[in-house]
Amino acid sequence: MKTETTLDVFDVDKIRDDFPILKEEINGYPLVYFDNAATSQTPQQVINCISDYYSRYNANIHRGVHTLSQTATDAYEQSRIKIQNHFNAKRSHEILFTAGTTHAINIVASGYGQFLKKGDEVIVSALEHHSNIVPWQMMCEKTGANLKVLPMHQDGMLKLEELDGLLSDKTRMVFVNHVSNALGSINPIKTIIQKAHDVGAKVLIDGAQAAPHIQADVQELDVDFYTVSAHKMCGPTGVGILYGKEHLLEELPPYQGGGEMISDVSFEKTTYAGLPHKFEAGTPNIAGGIGFGAAVDYLHKIGFDNIKEHEDELVSYATERLKEFDKIILYGPEVNRKTAVISFNFEGLHSYDIGTLVDKMGIALRTGHHCAQPIMKFYKIPGTVRASFSFYNTKEEIDIMIKALERAVKMLY
Ligand code: ALA
Repeated sequence: MKTETTLDVFDVDKIRDDFPILKEEINGYPLVYFDNAATSQTPQQVINCISDYYSRYNANIHRGVHTLSQTATDAYEQSRIKIQNHFNAKRSHEILFTAGTTHAINIVASGYGQFLKKGDEVIVSALEHHSNIVPWQMMCEKTGANLKVLPMHQDGMLKLEELDGLLSDKTRMVFVNHVSNALGSINPIKTIIQKAHDVGAKVLIDGAQAAPHIQADVQELDVDFYTVSAHKMCGPTGVGILYGKEHLLEELPPYQGGGEMISDVSFEKTTYAGLPHKFEAGTPNIAGGIGFGAAVDYLHKIGFDNIKEHEDELVSYATERLKEFDKIILYGPEVNRKTAVISFNFEGLHSYDIGTLVDKMGIALRTGHHCAQPIMKFYKIPGTVRASFSFYNTKEEIDIMIKALERAVKMLY
C-alpha cells in the first residue's frame, strides 16, 4: 500500500512548527533532539487529539450504552481501522492494541510457550533488542525448547547465508527485528519469512524501529506477527499493536484474564470473547489508542516517501561530517542499508562521557548498550553513542552536533 502525502512541498521548517518541544531550550541551548529511536516527538495534531478526548468525550469503551461511551468507543475502533489500513491487515480484529512492542512480543511468546515441547527450536537474530530475546529465553527455559541464533557480519548485517543451516523441521518460530535499534540495519525480512515458512515455522517481526521510516504491508510480507509501538511513530507512549493472522491469534491462549476479554463467566468455567477482545483485558489506554490513530494520519500527511528522502539525506550528511573526526569508529551498515541511525564511538573514550558533555550543549543522543547487549558483545565494547534522526531534523542541527562533539572530544583527549 502506497502512502499519499497531502503536503504541497516538504518544508522542514513548516513541519517543525507542528512540534512544540522543538522550540525548547536545554541547558541554555536550543534543543537538538537526535534520540528519535528511543522515542519520537509528538506533533500538536496528536496532542490536540488526546486533549480533545479528555476534554470532550472521556469515557470507558465497549461498556456503556450512554453517548459518551459510544463516542469514545467509535473513536477507538476508528483508530484500529486506521492502523489496519496503514499496515494493510485483512481484518481490523487482527490488530490488537497493546501497551507497546514489549507487551506484544510477550503475548506471542507466552502463548507459543504452551505449544512448545522439549527439543523444539526457535531462532532469534543477533541484532535483537532485549525485548525480542528475553521473552523467548523465558519460554525456552519453561519448555525445554532450544534457542538458536542467526549471527551477524562485522558490518551489522545478518548472515542470511547461515539461515538455511539453522532452519529444520524442528524450527517452530523465528523472530527478527525489521530494523535494528542499535545500528539501523534493515533486515531482509521477506526472505527470512519465506524460508521460515518453507519449514513450517511461524515468524514474528519486531517492527518498532521500522515503523517510523518504512510502511510495512503485512499481507505482502506474509508475516505471521508484526509488532510496533506508537511512541516511535509520533504517537503517545504506553500503546502499540500486535498484528497477527486471524487463525494464529485464534489459536493463541489469552495473555491476561479480566473484564472485556470474556464471553461468559461462572465459577465453573469462563469462555473467552472473540478477537480482538480476547487479548484486550481491562480498561485499555483509550487516549493512547485514539492518539495512535492521529499519529498515523499525521505520518501519512507527511508521506513515507518524503520521510525516506529527507532522512536518507540527513544520515548521509551526518556520516560524512562524522568521518571528519580522526578517531571516530562507526558501527553498522552503509547508509543505503539502514534507517536514519548512526552508532559511533571515539577511540578510547566512553560513550557516556560524550553523551553527558553534548547534553550540556542541548543535544540529546543515546549512549550505552541500547538494550542490545549481544551486539555490543559482538563488537567487544560496552556501548556506543547513537544519533537517530527523524523527518523533522535538519542539516543545521547536525552541524551543531558536530561542533558540540568537537568541543567534547577536545575536553576528553
Ligand atoms: N528501544 C528504544 C531504543 O532503542 C528505547 O532506544
